[in-house]
Amino acid sequence: MSQDKIFIFDTTLRDGEQVPGCKLNTNEKVELALALEELGVDIIEAGFPISSPGDFESVSEISKVITKATVCGLTRAVQKDIEVAASALKFAKRPRIHTGIGTSDMHIKTKFNSTREEILERAIQAVKWARNYTDDVEFFGEDAGRADLEFLARVVEAVIKAGATVVNIPDTTGYCLPHQYGEKIAYLKNNVPNIDKAVISCHCHNDLGLATANSIAGVISGARQIECTINGLGERAGNTSLEEVVMVIKQHQSLGLYTDVKTVRLNPISRLVSDTMRMPVQPNKAIVGSNAFAHSSGIHQDGFLKNAQNYEIIKPEEVGADSSRIVLTARSGRSALAHRLLKLGFQFNRNAIDVIYEEFLKVADVKKEIEDEDLKALAAKYHPEVAVAL
Ligand code: KIV
Ligand code: ZN
Repeated sequence: MSQDKIFIFDTTLRDGEQVPGCKLNTNEKVELALALEELGVDIIEAGFPISSPGDFESVSEISKVITKATVCGLTRAVQKDIEVAASALKFAKRPRIHTGIGTSDMHIKTKFNSTREEILERAIQAVKWARNYTDDVEFFGEDAGRADLEFLARVVEAVIKAGATVVNIPDTTGYCLPHQYGEKIAYLKNNVPNIDKAVISCHCHNDLGLATANSIAGVISGARQIECTINGLGERAGNTSLEEVVMVIKQHQSLGLYTDVKTVRLNPISRLVSDTMRMPVQPNKAIVGSNAFAHSSGIHQDGFLKNAQNYEIIKPEEVGADSSRIVLTARSGRSALAHRLLKLGFQFNRNAIDVIYEEFLKVADVKKEIEDEDLKALAAKYHPEVAVAL
């Protein structure tokens, strides 16, 4: 079966960097951009050049050093923004201008105090301005997740006619359910006459924890670009997490999709971004959390020790994570205890394990996690010669 490529548009340095406390300086942004290029992303959204002199400089410096990926700068549908972005991108080998405007009635009325017709004109005009500087112009219809479908389709058709090569359909507020977002993309595919002249892009926020599911629903319906961030960083509850969508696509080959991301680099880059942005990753985060490959309940540990695939659908080495861990807690069972004791050099028969296990549970009920030192002390009670030998 032939496979379709999904373009990975990384916005860690733009939407991700908007998170309070995650502000980066130019050197940090350049270092992360180089790591993103090594990871294999197709597009790096380097910043919002008109927003500050620092961001202008970052986009400009990133443009100088990135050789394979497209470098993108964000703008509003404002001529000055577009001129400034073009100037920041002037050294880029593959520059992209990402311009757009709100498309939901909520944004049109209460943010722009405008009308649908006026917004349509502004969208067309912005794309035309951007096309004066580059052939690679992406249009975003902000709050498309809540926009009227027929109006959204009109906007998409008009901006493609004006020269947009990518049309971004953001669920800016993370409002959509996966089937709704998927249907939105399918509607555009089926009702915009010139849609085959542009790539449809998914840009989903995580306010309801649905950003990954929505992006996947989007590509199932025909979108071919996903906008995402390392560790799912981004405004409010964050953006679609890059590591999650990449691994969903890799895991589910039946989707007929692939990305060019080198998955072994996912954990190293997650740590780099977390350290550089001073933003810890939640331990239970899929793919890159410290517990993503840790097993702590007796039932799971027993099954895992018999065959890792009983409880792991991804090998840790495939995503550059440390080896799987068996964590010993009061919920652990005898197999995990015996396994760890053996690793420490203590072999006991079944009866001895039963006795040590009772002692182990008493300690485990008091401590959150049993360390090797605790185990050695327990084992020593029953096996003094070995304990001394260690
Ligand atoms: O969430 C959003 O709508 C955005 C746009 C600027 C693309 O980030
Ligand atoms: Zn966004």
